[in-house]
Amino acid sequence: MNIRPPVSPLRAAAPVAAHPALHAAAAGRRRALQALAAGAAGAALSPSPSAFAQAAARDAVVIRFDSSPYVPTPQKVVDEMLRMGRVGAKDFLVDLGSGDGRIVITAAQRMGVRGFGVDLDPELVRHANATAKQAGVADRVQFFQRDIFKTDLTKADVVTMYLLPEVNMMARPKLLAELRPGSRVVTHDYHFEDWLPDDRITLDVPEKKVGTPGLAYVYMWIVPGQGGGRWQGKMPVAGGQVLPVELDLEQRFQLLTGSVTLGGRPATLAFAEMVGNDLNVIFNAEIGGKQVRHEILAATRGGEASGTVRVGSDNPALLQGQVVLSRSMARPANFGPAVAVK
Ligand SMILES: C[S@@+](CC[C@H](N)C(=O)[O-])C[C@H]1O[C@@H](n2cnc3c(N)ncnc32)[C@H](O)[C@@H]1O
Repeated sequence: MNIRPPVSPLRAAAPVAAHPALHAAAAGRRRALQALAAGAAGAALSPSPSAFAQAAARDAVVIRFDSSPYVPTPQKVVDEMLRMGRVGAKDFLVDLGSGDGRIVITAAQRMGVRGFGVDLDPELVRHANATAKQAGVADRVQFFQRDIFKTDLTKADVVTMYLLPEVNMMARPKLLAELRPGSRVVTHDYHFEDWLPDDRITLDVPEKKVGTPGLAYVYMWIVPGQGGGRWQGKMPVAGGQVLPVELDLEQRFQLLTGSVTLGGRPATLAFAEMVGNDLNVIFNAEIGGKQVRHEILAATRGGEASGTVRVGSDNPALLQGQVVLSRSMARPANFGPAVAVK
């Protein structure tokens, strides 16, 4: 399968130039998040953890069964994980619990990435390093016998995981603390509970016997930067005016809630999120007696944010312009418990 380099809006150096694509990408992700937040929770789709462990013991090629089973990810699912993680040649990929190394080795062969995998099982680590050598990618990827909780993740652009749900939840604080905003986390079958995924897919995998037989779930998260606090600036609105805008936001994972005023008058916040370090805010404000949609998409850099504004829901927008915001007060994001959840 030919996987193109990432088209992540997160890495766009010039948000103003990339404006239409950024707004379109934000719209797709927003729909997915809103559907999840509205109750179609990812949890309902995942197989139960005990089903995974039991089926792993019963059906899978169990090379070693310590506290965690070894179950390889089918190649079709590996391909989809790499596509959803937007893995490209410049990325550094880490697979936590790497098994026979197939995820990292596939990415090195097809996209030329660098990276590593860690696994507790020395046999699997030996096997993965031998396969990397055979595949001619041992200069780019390596495998180490190491506990995932003792693994430094700070270099990773993408982390992949196919681990039991409780292990995912134990790793969640570490991922959120160590990964840079904009890094991606991709999991097979299990998710991170109330940290809603930014993307997900269900695949038909007839040969899969574990979890929900015949199906695989792939989830993708973009590590959010810090967007909470009080932001102030000026933005253009319909009719040629430039009005002061103020956002007062609280952040939980990537989602932001709070209030907006435009020209000193309250507006209605419809949706707000951090996509890596990009702040995306949609609100409705009354202009000329009508409720008009306003969308801000701005790249944050510490206490400053700059980017674009779209006014009106039509395409082309009623008005497009630029916005610069500064944060007078920061409010740290709530990323859930800082210690492992048991
Ligand atoms: C379900 S397999 C996934 C293998 C591979 N990532 C794949 O998708 O094909 C999970 C692997 O994680 C490893 N593992 C489980 N807990 C671990 C831990 N705390 N540290 C390192 N490896 C771990 C197991 O040995 C096993 O090989």
